[in-house]
Amino acid sequence: MYTLEELESIVNKCKRCPLHRTRTNVVFGEGNTKANMIFIGEGPGFYEDKMGRPFVGRAGQLLDKMIEAIGLRREEVYITNIVKCRPPNNRNPLEEESDICIEFLRWQVKIIDPTIIVCLGAVAARNIIDRNFKITRQRGIWFNRGKYSIIATYHPAALLRDQSKKREAWEDFKSIREKYKKIAINMEG
Ligand code: URA
Repeated sequence: MYTLEELESIVNKCKRCPLHRTRTNVVFGEGNTKANMIFIGEGPGFYEDKMGRPFVGRAGQLLDKMIEAIGLRREEVYITNIVKCRPPNNRNPLEEESDICIEFLRWQVKIIDPTIIVCLGAVAARNIIDRNFKITRQRGIWFNRGKYSIIATYHPAALLRDQSKKREAWEDFKSIREKYKKIAINMEG
């Protein structure tokens, strides 16, 4: 078993897929390394690539607000992506890229050991829950996988493009808040 620092230094040097050629920085992930909840996006965008941090652009600002709306701070959870290097022009990661990179995510999740996994958008949900995941039909549903409770909601960038999705996303976040509270109570007890 690696430590998170060891894993990060391995990922920072990764050249296993062509995305390393066009990256400025690897975006490993950040937050509470002992978090009960991990948010997983698709891959770094322009600002994330420049800064080496996940969700720092417009979508990230919206994500921060949504996390705050359920009574948490960004620093209390852990935030990362399916692929750790920016796909050129923000295209979706290719299957061969995500298939390689997800191994790092698996390690990350094992080390952080959260109870709740939140998939942000269809790319994350398809890689984590089900290859054929339909975000409009299956968002907001809890899936139990071993010790993990997993849910998918709309990607914050989708909410910026289409305001009408915000109501459903808020329902999902309320459900996340309830699950998070229950887990906190179980851990105290
Ligand atoms: N979109 C993502 O999926 N991840 C980020 O880190 C930023 C934008």
